[in-house]
Amino acid sequence: DPSGDLSGRRIVISAGGTREALDPVRFLGNRSSGKQGIALAKAAHAAGAAVELVAANIDTGLLTGLPAGITMTPVESTLELQSAMHSAQVWADAIIMAAAVADYRPAEATESKMKKSGDDGLTLRLVQNPDILRGLVDERSRQTSLRHQIIVGFAAETGDVATAALDYARAKFERKGVDLLVFNDVSGDRAFGHDETMVQIISSDRGEIVVGEEFHGSKDHVSQKVIAAVSDQFTH
Ligand code: C5P
Repeated sequence: DPSGDLSGRRIVISAGGTREALDPVRFLGNRSSGKQGIALAKAAHAAGAAVELVAANIDTGLLTGLPAGITMTPVESTLELQSAMHSAQVWADAIIMAAAVADYRPAEATESKMKKSGDDGLTLRLVQNPDILRGLVDERSRQTSLRHQIIVGFAAETGDVATAALDYARAKFERKGVDLLVFNDVSGDRAFGHDETMVQIISSDRGEIVVGEEFHGSKDHVSQKVIAAVSDQFTH
């Protein structure tokens, strides 16, 4: 079994990209399609896990044909995603944060459609969003019942991990306090919306940071590698 054994495990996976409302018809968003997260959900399900997919703005076409046994919670904004993740956390043996989360949101969303006013352009004021992943790691350390929970983050970067991005990925692994960090090269035409991707899994072994081999291929293929690594964490 290429994806390891997750039978009896409960896995929560966030996928897609958040949208931050400006008004009832406009939002600030990102290019995440949700394909990676869906591939992870399928791989976890194939490995025997009960899966909850927290889906941020994923095209319905991508969601049709999901195996029964994957439950879906749709969310739109970062704050909605955060609350869905914290609700799901109490149930989860492992959490994978694959969603692309907006770091900032408009300071206020207007209730009616914004009007064009004058020729002076428009200045938007943004406020910082919470780091959901960080919050989940903090919550785990507060609750003894969550002590064995596995938490996985993603790091989408441009440039491969062998260059300066490696130091960045190491720093991010430590800063986030996760068990696994999936480094994901999103330069050029890789990743967003595409089927081919490259990942490297960063973990730690007795206090040493270990950067895994490069996995190239389809999002389904690399997802099996990520799920196998999650499965390994349970047996450590
Ligand atoms: O710091 P950076 O955004 O690169 O971290 C990426 C990881 O953190 C991803 O797993 C992403 O889902 C998560 N994240 C989050 N909340 C944010 C920003 C990122 O959970 N506000």
